[in-house]
Amino acid sequence: MIYHQAIIVGGGLAGLRAAIELTRRGIDTAIVSKVHPLRSHTVAAQGGINVSIGNNPLAVSDNPETHAFDTIKGSDYLADQGAVLKMCRMGPGLVYEMEHWGCPFSRNEDGRISQRPFGGADFPRTCYAADRTGHALLNTIFERSVYHGITVYSEYLVTSLAVDNGTCYGLIALDMKTGGLEPFSSDAVIFATGGAGRLYGKSTNALINTGMGLAVPYQAGVPLKDMEFIQFHPTTLFGTNILVSEGARGEGAYLLNRRGERFLAGYEDSKEKMELSPRDIVARNMVREMEKGGGFEGGYIHLDLRHLGKERIEERLPGIRELSMKFAGIDPEMEPIPVQPGQHYTMGGIDTDAEGKTAIKGLFAAGECACVSVHGANRLGGNSLLEALVFGAIAGEGAASYIKGNEKTRGEGMVLDALKREEEEIKSLMVSAGKERVPELWEELNRVMDYNVGIFREERSLKEGLDKVRELKERSKDLALSYKGKHFNYELYWGLELKGSLDVAETVIIGALERRESRGSHFRRDYPLRNDRSFLRHSIVKYTEEEPSLIYRDVDVSLFEPKERRY
Ligand code: FUM
Repeated sequence: MIYHQAIIVGGGLAGLRAAIELTRRGIDTAIVSKVHPLRSHTVAAQGGINVSIGNNPLAVSDNPETHAFDTIKGSDYLADQGAVLKMCRMGPGLVYEMEHWGCPFSRNEDGRISQRPFGGADFPRTCYAADRTGHALLNTIFERSVYHGITVYSEYLVTSLAVDNGTCYGLIALDMKTGGLEPFSSDAVIFATGGAGRLYGKSTNALINTGMGLAVPYQAGVPLKDMEFIQFHPTTLFGTNILVSEGARGEGAYLLNRRGERFLAGYEDSKEKMELSPRDIVARNMVREMEKGGGFEGGYIHLDLRHLGKERIEERLPGIRELSMKFAGIDPEMEPIPVQPGQHYTMGGIDTDAEGKTAIKGLFAAGECACVSVHGANRLGGNSLLEALVFGAIAGEGAASYIKGNEKTRGEGMVLDALKREEEEIKSLMVSAGKERVPELWEELNRVMDYNVGIFREERSLKEGLDKVRELKERSKDLALSYKGKHFNYELYWGLELKGSLDVAETVIIGALERRESRGSHFRRDYPLRNDRSFLRHSIVKYTEEEPSLIYRDVDVSLFEPKERRY
């Protein structure tokens, strides 16, 4: 059986940062990931990472407290304030560390890291590497992990945890190359798998972001927190929903309706900050404008970069130009880009504290799969790379002290028990003669999430969505594979992930149905106002054999009194 003192599931920014922290502390660490770390979804992050280093002439008085305030206000006051401040204080040091490790940030004339404006921020504080910031950070940190000699098991799908009596002893993963199950024994496990974007069909997320990374800890007994808060990015490329970075609006791009008007001026909540209002507000007003007939046929709005000029577009937004040309046949120097809102980020996730600890001893989580919560009901653009870096480091440190402080015996017996259960599960799927097919159920799940659990929600459509997801859960018991091969059997992986993703989808809908208010990204047409008296609380959903149970937990509002969110 493979043994490492610490195992990290996921090789993106949070996972690699956690691995480096553990290794620096002398812990033998491995990464287990569905894809090679350089294919992790971090690579798709475009616009930047927020830290209050005041390098922009308009941001000289910026500081971690103002950054924390913007984040908390942006979260519609659902973020835990102490955790946000911690993130904003730790951010600058960790970004400078990335700079020292060689991250090729874009620079001011004086050589300092450039910063651009992003939505919902009072100062331009988003550091960037053109519009490929995730790519630059991921390659830099991966090189660093190679320097530290961190072992990587790529192309392993983690299917379950070995948990006994509230303690985690390791995990089981399917080796995608051989089709065999591999037991991994470990003293601590950190989940850093990214979000659940692919519950939706219209998403900026990589196909790897199925939500399985949330499902595995959930099924093992860790609650999921605030799952109803799904972020819809305002500008995804019409047709493919590839991300068109907020960096474009940060550089000055306009959103135009079919009459060529900057329509955001006509809405009370976006008339001040216009294109740089927070994402939840911009996405909603784009949909409202299209509902009023201001969109283009098929359902899109124009993002106009032309006035920025060739030089600025090619220097600051080369990726956007390339994607527009390749995937929409449009050169943004000559024509506006057709965009529409699409799923982008999972604000909720594995319930952790501000140290990355979960309800299971020895099990930690960080990055998008986790919910600390620092984003509350709506994340500000540029805060996700920051969260990954900061809470990756924190979880790594926490796991290292847990390992050093616990003389626990290795739980190989528990891992072997978990292995037997997984072997049964996979065997029954491989030999099943059921009538349901994996791609069809996935398509139905995506359709339900797109149509019933989108930007605007209401009781009737949510209830219908919940019924449909439960029906899909039933039908998934009768799945059969049309391909029975062992090597790289993607039908098998998607089949295994489907069951977990359906569980996760159910938590999103239950949270949305029960939250009878509108807050951040969660807008109920039947309850259009925020209701602090009843819902200034985190929703916590627990897995049970029958159906999920929901409780609420208070939010930390120790720093700033919750106020109406005005921009
Ligand atoms: O629009 C963007 O570049 C995305 C940034 C983010 O989600 O933080």
